[in-house]
Amino acid sequence: MTFPKPLAGQKALVTGANSGIGKGVAIALGVAGADVVINYETDKDAATEVVDTIRAGGANAIALQADVSSPSEVDAMFARAIEEFGTLDILVANAGLQQDAPFTEMTLEKWSKVLDVNLTGQFLCAQAATREFLRRGVVPSVSRAAGKIICMSSVHQVIPWAGHANYATSKGGIKLLMESMAQELAPKGIRVNAIAPGAVRTPINTSAWSTAEALKSLLTLIPYGRIGEPEDIARAAVWLASDESDYVIGTTLFVDGGMTLYPGFATGG
Ligand code: BGC
Repeated sequence: MTFPKPLAGQKALVTGANSGIGKGVAIALGVAGADVVINYETDKDAATEVVDTIRAGGANAIALQADVSSPSEVDAMFARAIEEFGTLDILVANAGLQQDAPFTEMTLEKWSKVLDVNLTGQFLCAQAATREFLRRGVVPSVSRAAGKIICMSSVHQVIPWAGHANYATSKGGIKLLMESMAQELAPKGIRVNAIAPGAVRTPINTSAWSTAEALKSLLTLIPYGRIGEPEDIARAAVWLASDESDYVIGTTLFVDGGMTLYPGFATGG
């Protein structure tokens, strides 16, 4: 039995693809037929494992190390990716981290680190991807669009988060960065959208799901009654990267089991 490959012939770059949501997205893009650049900052072995998984499925993949908050490293990574694959059609700007602290204890270092990686990192990668999309233009046999950018946001682009001011600010910034890019780049044939995951079982939030007690408390925030899995986000990313979503521009797709539906009001208010 063969399955359709909606991304056949396309080249993708996923940042932070050695673990968590990025890893799930990268593998799914490969299954959908795309060749994938696996960006990682640390943990080369984990990135190599993702490369091997994608290659075993029949698509090509390479791992490239770069700190997405460094302009020179981002430039070098895109140059290398384009040299290897010829071009790029899809960017999933996913790399992100948390450095949590109560507000009065949040150091400037923690504030800046999270903004640099989560927000400036997406800006730098989107800019580099856009330059390549514009250089190459539309190739109708590959995709109706000149390129697709998917920004990994979070439910915290709308839900304020005590103890995580830096993280929530970075995600709120991604919302307007994404929308501003979408408005500016749509006339040039580039589609920019975002995914806002809720609580997904990954290393970033282990403390929220790894004990029965923590999971029970987490589930009170999720109307659908289960934690998300990286595959839930990966399916949305494949759709947003494919021509199936060709008329979708500047949208944030919430993939959150209903977390943004104010679950506290189900029985209150
Ligand atoms: C955060 C997770 C958190 C989830 C829901 C994500 O963006 O990275 O730590 O569990 O939002 O609150």
